[in-house]
Amino acid sequence: MSTLTIFCGLPGSGKTTAYHKNSDTIFGGNIRLSLDEFRLLMTGKDFHAPFEPEVHMWSERTTRYLLSQGHDVVVDATFLKKSLRAKWIELAKECKADISCAWMNVPASVCFLRNEKRDKKVPEEVMEKMTEDFEPPSQDEGFMEMLEFGE
Ligand SMILES: Nc1ncnc2c1ncn2[C@@H]1O[C@H](COP(=O)(O)OP(=O)(O)OP(=O)(O)O)[C@@H](O)[C@H]1O
Ligand SMILES: [Mg+2]
Repeated sequence: MSTLTIFCGLPGSGKTTAYHKNSDTIFGGNIRLSLDEFRLLMTGKDFHAPFEPEVHMWSERTTRYLLSQGHDVVVDATFLKKSLRAKWIELAKECKADISCAWMNVPASVCFLRNEKRDKKVPEEVMEKMTEDFEPPSQDEGFMEMLEFGE
C-alpha cells in the first residue's frame, strides 16, 4: 500500500528543511511534490493568485497518479486548515493509500523570525493572517501516523 504524507506548518516552520534532512530516512523512497517549486515553474513567481487553482489541481492530480502507480508521496505545502487536510485525507482514501501528517510544531514567533531573515520573505500581513487561520493538526482528523518536528 502507498503512503501519502502531507506537511503541515507555517512558512518558516522548516518543512522543506525537515524533508531534506530526512530524505534518506523517514522520507526515503518518497516522491516529493513541492507547491512552491511548482508555482515558480509554472508562473516564474513565488505566488501568483490567478494560477492558484491550477497549482492545486496539479498537485492533486499528480498525487493521485503517483499513488495509483504505487509510489509513496510527500507533499511540501502548508496545509494549515483542517478542511483542506480533510480533502487530502479523502483523496488518500480514494486512492487506497495510507495517510500521515508531518507536523511542524514550531512556535509562530520562531517562524516570523526565520521569515524575516530569508531572502524570499512572505509578507508580514500574510504571515499574520496565516497564523490566525492556522488550525494545528491532530491524529483524530483521520491520520494513521503523525510525524512531529520541533524547532
Ligand atoms: N531546525 C531549524 N533550525 C534553524 N533554522 C531552520 C530550521 N529549519 C529551517 N530553518 C531555517 O528557516 C528558514 C525556513 O525554513 P524552510 O524553508 O525549511 O521552511 P518552510 O516551512 O519550508 O517554509 P515555506 O513554507 O516558506 O516553504 C530557512 O532559512 C532555514 O534554513
Ligand atoms: Mg518550504
